[in-house]
Amino acid sequence: MIKLVLASKNEKKLVELRNILTRLGVEVIGESEAGVDVLVEETGATFEENAALKARAVMEASGLPAIADDSGLMVDALAGAPGVYSARYGGEALDDTGRYRLLLETMRGQTDRRCKFVSAICCAFPNGDVITARGECAGTLAYAPRGEGGFGYDPIFFVPGLKKTFSELTPEEKDQISHRGNALREMKLKLESYLDGIDK
Ligand code: IMP
Repeated sequence: MIKLVLASKNEKKLVELRNILTRLGVEVIGESEAGVDVLVEETGATFEENAALKARAVMEASGLPAIADDSGLMVDALAGAPGVYSARYGGEALDDTGRYRLLLETMRGQTDRRCKFVSAICCAFPNGDVITARGECAGTLAYAPRGEGGFGYDPIFFVPGLKKTFSELTPEEKDQISHRGNALREMKLKLESYLDGIDK
């Protein structure tokens, strides 16, 4: 089984990534287990660039293949914002609740509530090879938070087909449709054919 160092400081995202990857048969170890602690400035203009920056930095520090996710929420009526700035929306002082409250306030009176979560996943290998996958999940912005689970913008991300917010889904239900789940399923296929190629 391939072993990857998971490059993430976000505890809840780390749990999600680890769960999905384990279910997909990929073994992951945390940065601390790999003996590294890498702080990466997310200076990229796209999710893909930021995921590659993070994966490369951890691969270089650990000498092992590394996997990283960069993700965020894009709101149509805000021209795709907060996008790559989702984790920093409203400044460093806000927490998850402060950020989604600010977004609800910004969207007050706006009837076009369409939005999507995007996740870019990148695997970086010590030989310089890089594999990237992208997943999306479309939804609408709720008018008020609902549910207890998940993290980040989950309480206000409404999935019309299920009539529930991401926070009202079980972890398994969320993984089945989420941007991160979709990106990781694509990544698994890409990894399998990449490793197949290496074996031959
Ligand atoms: P990153 O660590 O730079 O990728 O930050 C991504 C940010 O986007 C997180 O801090 C969350 O605010 C938001 N985000 C990404 N994925 C999710 C999700 O599945 N649910 C809720 N918020 C998310």
